[in-house]
Amino acid sequence: MEENIPSTEPIPESPAVKLTEQEEEVFQHINNPVLGLKPIVKKYLGTPKSVEQKENKFFFSDGEATVEVTVVTDEIIKVRMAPHGVFLEEFSYAVPKLNTKVSVFHLHDNADEYRISTNTVNCHINKADFFISFSDSQNHVTSADAVQMHWEENVKFGGYYVFGTKVCHSKEAFFGLGDKPTDLNLRGKRFVNWNTDAYSFAWNQDPIYRSIPFYISLNEGISHGIFFDNTFKAHFDFGAEDRSKTSFWADGGELQYYYIHGPNMMDVVKRYHLLTGTHPMPPLWALGYHQCRWSYYPESKVMKVAKGFRENQIPCDGIYLDIDYMDGYRCFTWNRKYFPDPKKMIKELAADGFKTVVIIDPGIRVDDNYSVFKEGKAKRYFCRRSDDYFMEGHVWPGRCQFPDFTNPEVREWWGTLFDELVQIGVAGVWNDMNEPAVFGAGTFPDDVRHQYDGYRGSHRKAHNIYGMQMVRATYEGMRKLMKNKRPFTITRAGYSGVQRFTSVWTGDNVASWEHLRLGNVQCQRLSMSGIPFCGTDIGGFSGEPDGELFTRWIQMGTFSPFMRAHSAGDTKEREPWSFGEPFTAINRKFIELRYKLIPYLYSTFWEHHRYGFPILRPVVMQEQEEINNQARQDEFTYGDKILVCPVMEPGQKSRLVYLPKGNWYYYWDNEMVEGGREVEVATPLETIPLFVKAGSVIPEYPVMQYVGEKEIEEVQLNVYYSDLPANSFFFEDYGETFAYEQDIYSEKKFVVSGKGTSMTILQSMEGLYTPRYDNYAFSVAGLPFKPVKIIADGKEVTEFTYTEQKVLEFKFTKTFKHIEVM
Ligand code: GLC
Repeated sequence: MEENIPSTEPIPESPAVKLTEQEEEVFQHINNPVLGLKPIVKKYLGTPKSVEQKENKFFFSDGEATVEVTVVTDEIIKVRMAPHGVFLEEFSYAVPKLNTKVSVFHLHDNADEYRISTNTVNCHINKADFFISFSDSQNHVTSADAVQMHWEENVKFGGYYVFGTKVCHSKEAFFGLGDKPTDLNLRGKRFVNWNTDAYSFAWNQDPIYRSIPFYISLNEGISHGIFFDNTFKAHFDFGAEDRSKTSFWADGGELQYYYIHGPNMMDVVKRYHLLTGTHPMPPLWALGYHQCRWSYYPESKVMKVAKGFRENQIPCDGIYLDIDYMDGYRCFTWNRKYFPDPKKMIKELAADGFKTVVIIDPGIRVDDNYSVFKEGKAKRYFCRRSDDYFMEGHVWPGRCQFPDFTNPEVREWWGTLFDELVQIGVAGVWNDMNEPAVFGAGTFPDDVRHQYDGYRGSHRKAHNIYGMQMVRATYEGMRKLMKNKRPFTITRAGYSGVQRFTSVWTGDNVASWEHLRLGNVQCQRLSMSGIPFCGTDIGGFSGEPDGELFTRWIQMGTFSPFMRAHSAGDTKEREPWSFGEPFTAINRKFIELRYKLIPYLYSTFWEHHRYGFPILRPVVMQEQEEINNQARQDEFTYGDKILVCPVMEPGQKSRLVYLPKGNWYYYWDNEMVEGGREVEVATPLETIPLFVKAGSVIPEYPVMQYVGEKEIEEVQLNVYYSDLPANSFFFEDYGETFAYEQDIYSEKKFVVSGKGTSMTILQSMEGLYTPRYDNYAFSVAGLPFKPVKIIADGKEVTEFTYTEQKVLEFKFTKTFKHIEVM
């Protein structure tokens, strides 16, 4: 496409010559399009000639172009550039409210540079060339321009292509950018952000479903992030074109980015969440297992699948209805032949613990007898082309029009359409095809107009946020309709900040070992890119997995924040028992493990929601100073306590697993293993390598067939001995309301530490929620001595056992403060 031209051009080494004022005059008044027309050239900032300060904003001008530097926090600096000194109105779907929290900052005007300093970061504006760089309080430069910010006029659409180019160091690694299906380290590669329906995508295919213009740099152990908040088609080059340069540019909009200081990768991710928000607490049931397929119909089939779970005693919470539940794929309708009484069916499913999730796509069938179309048409809610025709295209229902979700009034309306679904008991909504996908054409043409929350724009500007605004409308509508209950939503497309409204899955993958590996990397990458609640289609959407591949996928999926099996309609049955033994038993064992660990996952979710920690953490985030970790992408931690290494090769008998420094316990037998090295771990089909960090307290619930099946009588606390004090958190609340926003929750902190022949466990509590159970059942592994005495809150606990496997077991009240084992 024409507007792509700049992306394939080499990035110039040095600034091109600026046109003189006279030349520009000639250029502007020329009428003959061929004769004498000068090629459009990239223009570069000149030298900063003046500075002006307005509160926390500084404006630097070269006489024409202006650069705005905003001090957002002590560690976040925002930079914007206006080629002719006029900035666009400030509006962002990613950053709904820019909360500035900064203690002190100063402007220093020196001979060589302007420098804006906070307590932790300096932003340098070089007087000789307008290069902008950032350094820490020890004057270590973390990020520096390699070329001035530059732009090129976009004659066809107006506005500019905008470019930023930074120095790329020889050992610098890059992470982030959402769901890119490639190696974890993005170094040496080039990417495009343009949400794309990518059925059966391949390794290295780009772009696919999501646009997350945020990357994390790691250079010699020091990290920083760049969030290029621009919704137009955007491009990133991590030393691909030129090994010494990292560039990001977009086909329109403003050159506007946030420099996010580290030095830890974790700090960068947390600070990115400060800008774009975190995921709300999900309904507890959504952390269970979900079963999906295109499509379960008619009703008898849905009921049979549900019954299959209970008969096979395999836990399951979510059951999905794909497009065939609708009447001719018309959203918000039912196919009454297949589903004569959906309310009754959903009620019956709910009585057996299943929550029903239904798919809703953006395409609304053009049909004057269909109420949603009629209303949308009457209220002019559908997208229109530049010359005022409606945007029409084919998707599942046939010829469709598409709501303009960038219009707040349309979002409001869309939200109300879920009323009937909520009333009949639907618990979750699955938004698909919202890149938006259009058969044949791929997506909307560029000239489609959007309301863009009053800031207007063509599809060039709105494309990448269309899906996010759709799921936002869905989530906000459901939230209102469900009163104080938490809705569950899942989306395919998204942009930065989409995590405030929804979970995601990685789209139409393939039943292959390569896709299992890809899914592993994608989920880690999504987690680092601010999207915590993510998962893959377990088993692969298209194609046929064999029993081994399916089981290995279930094992990995047990440790995906979102766990759902899904498959295309033309494949064979794909339930956890579809492959017979030994697969069914192993699948059951892992799904049961998923349920046991729900309180741990939920606590990790809380750490995400409240503090901005990702749920999955690649090992490079644990030990970023270790250069070899930059290339490790198989193993990751689930929360910060459990290290997981999925098995991703057929017939694999054992594999090497890297354990970060410190002591770890092999989950399956509690053997202690020293980290900081690779260890060989046996990988029979029944297990995958799983290790728990020394000092952890892992809360466990009893296995249930669905969340809330039984009242919890006591919570098991698995304690793993450590010499060094270690903290763990345990979060609980009602699991289905927003009461946690009013502090109705309980956050418990445990500190475990051992010395010689004693070990202590401390507990402190915060919040206003009290769970119903009374006791914890402790299970302590790894004691380096034989326990003889337990003193809990000053009293001796006389009843305890020390098993043959050297595990100490005893019970004590959940309100304990101090336990000592001797
Ligand atoms: C898309 C989705 C897939 C769904 C199918 C039918 O391909 O990605 O998950 O099953 O559409 O709705």
